[in-house]
Amino acid sequence: MNILKRYKVAPLPFQGQKRNFVEPFVGTLKELSQSQDIKVIVDLFGGSGLLSHTAKRVLPGCKVIYNDYDGYAKRLQAVVATNNLLSDIRVILKDCPREKRINEAYKSHVIARVEKEERKGFVDYITLSSSLLFSANYVTSFDELKASTLYNNVKQSNYDVKASDYLHGLEIVKCDYLELFNQYKDVPGVLLVVDPPYLTTDTKTYLSDQYWKLADFLNVINVLNQSNFIFFTSNKSSLIELCEWLNVNHNINNPFENAVLKTHETRLNPQSKYIDMMFTRILEMQKAS
Ligand SMILES: C[S@@+](CC[C@H](N)C(=O)[O-])C[C@H]1O[C@@H](n2cnc3c(N)ncnc32)[C@H](O)[C@@H]1O
Repeated sequence: MNILKRYKVAPLPFQGQKRNFVEPFVGTLKELSQSQDIKVIVDLFGGSGLLSHTAKRVLPGCKVIYNDYDGYAKRLQAVVATNNLLSDIRVILKDCPREKRINEAYKSHVIARVEKEERKGFVDYITLSSSLLFSANYVTSFDELKASTLYNNVKQSNYDVKASDYLHGLEIVKCDYLELFNQYKDVPGVLLVVDPPYLTTDTKTYLSDQYWKLADFLNVINVLNQSNFIFFTSNKSSLIELCEWLNVNHNINNPFENAVLKTHETRLNPQSKYIDMMFTRILEMQKAS
């Protein structure tokens, strides 16, 4: 029997993936499944698919909808080509010091190799960025890569070519989260997974970079109001405080009122940290006893 691996980290780089929340998320799903009749899990902001993937592995009997808004599945399909490209770049840079800036002569060889790949069709610039740019910097096109200062951070081993199993069993869609919500809002037994872009983080690699603003963020509250959800945010966003304020001052329903909170602290440096938050709120779906 083919036992499917459960990934704890998305197989290809993805900014903002919920790797720190995988285990609390697993715990919550297991707890919920004891008392609730969850039939469908809808991952409205799927990103790397890590939460969809985890949900399907933990509750294989559920239908899991992964909203692949950023085209992560396409990146996974290209993993062999990406490995080949990186292995050629490793050869080009074999005499360059690691973790140092790549000089212009070497850079032109690297760029020529990427251009050749670009002519074939698809290049996974996000994965390439984590090997060629300064830590946590990303580009999404050939022109941006060419204009960047390159660093020799090339990953020394290949990405997992079996990573296509990662999306096994998921129903993959690609649309605006609201459209997806409207399709499922009246279906019984739906649990929403809601992990929208954070307002305060760099979302350059997301398709939404152009427009994700405060009003978009607030629209998500409407989605939460009548739903069963697991919602992710951080203490850098003031959303929870805003919902409490609206409730107290304008009697507007606060979707987080009876939600269960799990947190994870991330220390950026000795002086600064932030707290990621996961809220779970269930309105219905009681299992018949
Ligand atoms: C915080 S990330 C989700 C990360 C994901 N949970 C993971 O673990 O990889 C938010 C995602 O929402 C996507 N997004 C932005 N606007 C969207 C929209 N209107 N509809 C659906 N997804 C959207 C972003 O491109 C990004 O991939």
